Order: sequence, then structure tokens, then C-alpha cells
Amino acid sequence: MFSYKNIAIIFTGILLISSCTDQEKFKNIGIHQHTRWEFAPNMYHSKAYEPLSQVMDENQGAFVSSDDDGIGEYYNSNPYNPHKMNMREPVMGTIKRNNLGFMPYHIPKDSLEYASLFITNPLESNELNIKDGELLYSKFCAHCHGAEGKGDGPVNSAFKGVANLAEGQLKSISMGHIFHVITRGKGRMLSHASQLNQEERWKVALYVKNKLQTAQ
Ligand code: HEC
Repeated sequence: MFSYKNIAIIFTGILLISSCTDQEKFKNIGIHQHTRWEFAPNMYHSKAYEPLSQVMDENQGAFVSSDDDGIGEYYNSNPYNPHKMNMREPVMGTIKRNNLGFMPYHIPKDSLEYASLFITNPLESNELNIKDGELLYSKFCAHCHGAEGKGDGPVNSAFKGVANLAEGQLKSISMGHIFHVITRGKGRMLSHASQLNQEERWKVALYVKNKLQTAQ
């Protein structure tokens, strides 16, 4: 009955059961879940660096007994970085890109003719994009150019005349032309590049071309 074999089996069973952790209990408090004990906790819980700020006072926070470097637990800074940030700025000349494949726009203001001939709309000319363009137009253009593009918006008089996009010679301008004017401005119209990103500008161009300039 009391063979070493039975004792070994019971002992192994107890070991197995006691090694289980109550996972549920620790679920919401962020405790490392594999075992109840942590060895070398500094490896699990490193001092996090705040990307946009630094805690430069070495006395901030409690002094953690497990590392006796004499520095408070909130201190996190890299004194060599500029602007009191832990994050480094991107290197000079870095190009911002988004999921649309954002590209920098290098065509200068005075090259309207080039832009109107050679840049083309990367967006699909579908209902959704045109609807977005309609909304953007109503917010960013209609007060000057008028709801129908006839140059009769409420701000018109302050400008002593705003271009009529829906009638006359501008009716045949290309989408590249419209994009370029929104981006760089022309004559008395200033650039709207800071209000509308590239995708939005193309949507406005789609709307102007497909709706305002085709209306009778
Ligand atoms: C603050 C008033 C104002 C706003 C807002 C404005 N425009 Fe204009 N826009 C003008 C004026 C003024 C002109 C005439 C510029 C000139 O030739 O001196 C003009 C001209 C234009 C032209 C014709 C350029 C040409 O080749 O003669 C286009 C196209 C145009 N605007 C599109 C837009 C679009 C699209 C928006 C909205 C994103 C917009 N504008 C917002 C005032 C405005």
C-alpha cells in the first residue's frame, strides 16, 4: 500500500494542482500571469519612456528598493534629445505618407498650366467620393464661390468678384487645374492646402467637375 510509487504519484498530483494560478483573479489588474512569483521583475516592468515629455527630476516618484540607483521611479529622460521629448524627431527630409500614398506636391504656384495638363486625379470618380466633395465644397468653397459655383457666395462682395466656376470659360478647366488652385491659390484666392489634405482636395475637384460644371 505505502509503496514509494504511490507516494510519488500523490506528490506529483499535489505539485501539479498547486502550480495552477487563479488566472481570473489576476486578469484585470495587469499582473504578469504565468506564475505567482516573478524573478527579476525589472525585466518585466521596465521604466517606460514617455514619448512626448520627459520627467527630468530624478526625485520624482518612489524609490524602488529593487534597484538602488537612487533615482525615483517616474524619472525618465534622455537629456540629449531636443524639445524635452524622449522621442527623436524624424530625420531631415523625411516624407510623411498615409494610406493613400501621400506624395509631396512640388509643382510651384506659377506652374498652373503644367499642373492642369499633367496631374491627374488618383481617386475613383464614384458617388461616394463626389458626395464627400460636395460636403467639403459646402464648407470650404461655397461662401465665396456660391452653392452652385456661380461666384455668388455671401463673401463675394468683400472680394469684389469671385470666379464663376459653373459658367463661362472656367467651365472647361481640368481637375488638375482645380487641384492646383486649391493647393497653391491663384490671384486673390489664397491656398487652401492647410484646410484640406490632398485626398480632400481631389474630392472637391471631383465634385466641381462632375456636378457644378455639368449642371445646366
Ligand atoms: C475666400 C474666398 C474664396 C474661397 C473660400 C475659395 N475661393 Fe476660389 N477663388 C476666389 C477668388 C477671389 C478667385 C479669383 C482669383 C483671381 O483670379 O484673382 C477664385 C478662383 C478660383 C478658381 C479659378 C482659378 C482660375 O484659373 O481662374 C477655382 C478653380 C477656384 N477658385 C476653386 C475653389 C475651390 C475648389 C475652393 C474650395 C476649396 C475655393 N476656390 C475657395 C475666392 C475663393
